[in-house]
Amino acid sequence: SDEIRDQLFEIHEWAAKFYQYLLLEHKLGKNALKYFEKRGFTRATIEKFRLGYAPRAWTALFHFLKKKGYPDYLLEKSGLVLPGKQKNGYYDRFRDRAIFTIFNLRGQPIGFGGRVMEPDQNPKYLNSPETPIFLKNQNLYGFNFAMDQIRKTGQAIIVEGYTDVITAHQYGIENVVASLGTSLTENQARLLARYAEEVYIAYDADTAGQKATLRGLDILKNTGLIVKVIELPDELDPDELIRKNGAEAFKSLLEDAISFIDFKLNKILKQYDLDSPDGKVQAVQELLPMFLNIDNAIEKDYLIKQIVKR
Ligand code: UTP
Ligand code: MN
Ligand code: MN
Ligand code: MN
Ligand code: MN
Repeated sequence: SDEIRDQLFEIHEWAAKFYQYLLLEHKLGKNALKYFEKRGFTRATIEKFRLGYAPRAWTALFHFLKKKGYPDYLLEKSGLVLPGKQKNGYYDRFRDRAIFTIFNLRGQPIGFGGRVMEPDQNPKYLNSPETPIFLKNQNLYGFNFAMDQIRKTGQAIIVEGYTDVITAHQYGIENVVASLGTSLTENQARLLARYAEEVYIAYDADTAGQKATLRGLDILKNTGLIVKVIELPDELDPDELIRKNGAEAFKSLLEDAISFIDFKLNKILKQYDLDSPDGKVQAVQELLPMFLNIDNAIEKDYLIKQIVKR
């Protein structure tokens, strides 16, 4: 109901305040603050994105929220605490992690991501579960901050992760949102299409990122968006590239972005030996569904010409 949703919003607002207080004001958060600073985030960025720290204790947030008067069942619904194994009491989902606040379109906190601060700990990120106010397949991380710029330019850039969004925004590239590792959904594509005509995919250069790019391409394309792919050099992700080479380097990759058709064509043709007749047949067979899926006559014509040429 609306009442439950309202209370879940309140709980998340309190939790965001709790985590940020620990990060910025408490000695327990010192390490996490150092972690964020080492990643190059400024104080203004930390405050804007409401970064925080979840302490190591098992029930710190639980007790904080209980003191605010929320019943157990609501706290459990928020996903921020989990029922204990012995059926009595609850424990905090996020413990000893650097906290990223996830917002809805109106900028209200609706979930969190918690990152380990030491290398080689698993899982690297823990995330809030799906709740009545956090519908994962409809949310894009950073959209609340990116909306104006996306509308203004008609262009959006999709990246994988929290830190890719935050670094891009800190460096003044403000039309950037993240699908948060999960592969892009139709609902997310539709949300983008309400504000943008053109979408750039800037996923990581690793295998996982490239697979997600291929899936994302089709979903975005089917929503009627113009889709381009940014190819990142040297296995860097956008966060690493921008910090290493600057915002201009990222912007120049945007200018070199390749079209939906060329990206898929390259990917498919690379898998076959095009000097052999068998290879040619196999490549054409794989290209056929893509060809049939294109409605636009100019694009169809372009694809045919490329296939023949190659
Ligand atoms: P990446 O592995 O590319 O991480 O996952 P990253 O964003 O570059 O993170 P850093 O730079 O190492 O801190 C991309 C996104 O996938 C989700 C997160 O949303 C992450 O930002 N993810 C990744 C998870 O949910 N859990 C994981 O264990 C790993
Ligand atoms: Mn990745
Ligand atoms: Mn990264
Ligand atoms: Mn990454
Ligand atoms: Mn990484």
